[in-house]
Amino acid sequence: MIRRYKFGSPMDTGAVLRRLPAESTPMPFFSVTRNEGSVSFACALDEDDQIFGLGETVRGINKRGHLYRSWNMDDFSHTESKGGLYASHNLLLFSGKKRLFGVYFDDPGEVTYDLGYTRMDSVAITSVNGDLNVYIIEESSLTEICHAFRGLVGRSYLPPRWAFGYIQSRWGYASDAEVRTVVKEHRDRHIPLDGVCMDIDYMDHFKDFTWNPEQFPDLHRLTDDMHDDHVRLIPIIDAGVKQEAGYDVCDEGLEQDYFVKKADGKPFVGAVWPGRSYFPDFLREDVRAWFGGKYARLMDEGVEGFWNDMNEPALFYSEESLAEAFEKADGLRGQNLGIDGAFELTATFGGVANNAEDYRRFYHRVGDRQVRHDKVHNLYGAMMTRAAGEGFRRYDESKRFLLFSRSSFIGAHRYGGVWQGDNTSWWGHLKLNLQMMPSLNMCGFLYTGADLGGFSGNTTEDLLLRWMQLGVFTPLMRNHSAQHTRDQEAYRFSRWEDMRNTITIRYALLPYLYSEFMQAALEDGMLFRPLAFDYPLDGMACRTEDQVMLGSDCMIAPVYEQNACGRHVYLPEDMLLVRFRSAQDYDLVPMKAGHHWVDAQLTETPLFIRRNHVVPLAAPAEWTEAVDASRLTLLGWIDGDVSATIYDDDGISAQVRLEDGLSALTVRVQDGTASAACPGREVDASRIIVGEQ
Ligand code: GLC
Repeated sequence: MIRRYKFGSPMDTGAVLRRLPAESTPMPFFSVTRNEGSVSFACALDEDDQIFGLGETVRGINKRGHLYRSWNMDDFSHTESKGGLYASHNLLLFSGKKRLFGVYFDDPGEVTYDLGYTRMDSVAITSVNGDLNVYIIEESSLTEICHAFRGLVGRSYLPPRWAFGYIQSRWGYASDAEVRTVVKEHRDRHIPLDGVCMDIDYMDHFKDFTWNPEQFPDLHRLTDDMHDDHVRLIPIIDAGVKQEAGYDVCDEGLEQDYFVKKADGKPFVGAVWPGRSYFPDFLREDVRAWFGGKYARLMDEGVEGFWNDMNEPALFYSEESLAEAFEKADGLRGQNLGIDGAFELTATFGGVANNAEDYRRFYHRVGDRQVRHDKVHNLYGAMMTRAAGEGFRRYDESKRFLLFSRSSFIGAHRYGGVWQGDNTSWWGHLKLNLQMMPSLNMCGFLYTGADLGGFSGNTTEDLLLRWMQLGVFTPLMRNHSAQHTRDQEAYRFSRWEDMRNTITIRYALLPYLYSEFMQAALEDGMLFRPLAFDYPLDGMACRTEDQVMLGSDCMIAPVYEQNACGRHVYLPEDMLLVRFRSAQDYDLVPMKAGHHWVDAQLTETPLFIRRNHVVPLAAPAEWTEAVDASRLTLLGWIDGDVSATIYDDDGISAQVRLEDGLSALTVRVQDGTASAACPGREVDASRIIVGEQ
């Protein structure tokens, strides 16, 4: 059951699709106070209460115990003290002995969450602007709450199947030749590969929808050649449009009045990669149609996937913020700066980027109103994603295209996925990647993953290898790194064969992962869930923060510590450990419920399959289209007959129905031996373990 409570004059954020009447009774679970425009929602917490949700945020899966903030920011330092990152996903789930409910704050502006920080036993959530709809969702389980929530906000985006392949990326690939070399190095070593991202250096002077004519003289030929090699190019598109007379996107935007404007009616100018730039007013439908239509330029050259970036929007500076900083610095010139003065001077320039004041300097047109940006700040990236997604549909509505964005808001989950932003080559960020997966899934973002190996800083061989061992399970499996960091392509390392073997596991699991992803998307479910969702009565499972459920049959528990040769794992029920060294080389170890030390050497990827469930494995392949899903080996530990379903489709059509893609898989046990059948497939049951071990 979902109920809506209205505060102030909320705008339509585009997140919610189902229109519900506003309740006239007081909102349950929270006491509400108003204070100079803001609205706060408070409640007490019991000792055992847990709080899940908030999508892309730092810290654990259970969010209780800290301060969070919905305010989309370009901040590459994902430390524990950060309240938020690039996205605002205002869904919380409260679970305890006395309560079970979800609450969604549909508010496009700043929202702060004190989840047991000021007092461990209380929560205070504040909408700074006070204009919002709050939805209370009551169902019988955490999983059901998320399912009902998806019914409210709509079905998750469906990527093409090739987007589940391994993707190589690096900020710095600057020429046709370089891209070809990256692909060749993978193919020569038989390291599987399906995509190469093109970061900003492919553009002509960082101008959206252009490419450098010298370095990429024939983009069509490049995409064709890549296609022949089963590789897709995935160019980046940034939110800011370079200010340059003669650049048609800039000229058109100015002529048509498509950019956000200041109070004086002049277009707002902020700096990003190309220097001074304008920012399309993505909140307007006509602007979305215009910008979304521009992707066709690259699609006409054979491009089938994009990543949208810098769409918080990131601002390195504005004319105004820079002028103010210089003025302040001039005022301090020549002075003998003591401790306060010295800090003031450094903070003056440090604070120029993504400055709160800049977000109050420009306006959007919403209907016939001018709305100051800070009131709707968290919608900007989502509306850019929507512009692209709608553009793709107009371009070819029969086909799925890859799209993932840095900034997002709930609602954008219908148009694209997200990557988890500029993480660092830290072991802690490998763990954070794991913990964000279920939180993002709760909010509808199923197609997601983090920069494997870490974006900033220099990775190490073991960190990248361990990170790949998580990446083989995340829908977006992309190795990406920043310019001026250590080369991070798998083939650069002495242990490249181990990395290759790890990546082969992803391709062997592709029929399973794709099937589970599509079923989750088409049934409004989650691919990754906290253990608390599946084992709500198991106190230990509910507190487990470094293992997550994957699909309906598996649990993952990656190693995320340097020099570790295994880890502690808690099994809420009997499970079969599959200790992979490659797609074809693995041990099967039946394990009883309880606490275990699980050995996992640097080359080993553990996967746990629930007892009486089976997981299909394909033969290794070097690109997704070569994965033969018609011949599968089943892994599992079962006691009797098991039935399951496998979903598959052509991997590219936009119009898909669950019932058209499902095949029944049946496993029978006779005289202690398993045999299996699945229409249209050869299934090998010889690796299934039967009975008590
Ligand atoms: C931003 C993106 C990063 C990209 C860089 C250059 O920092 O988050 O992924 O490599 O910009 O485009």
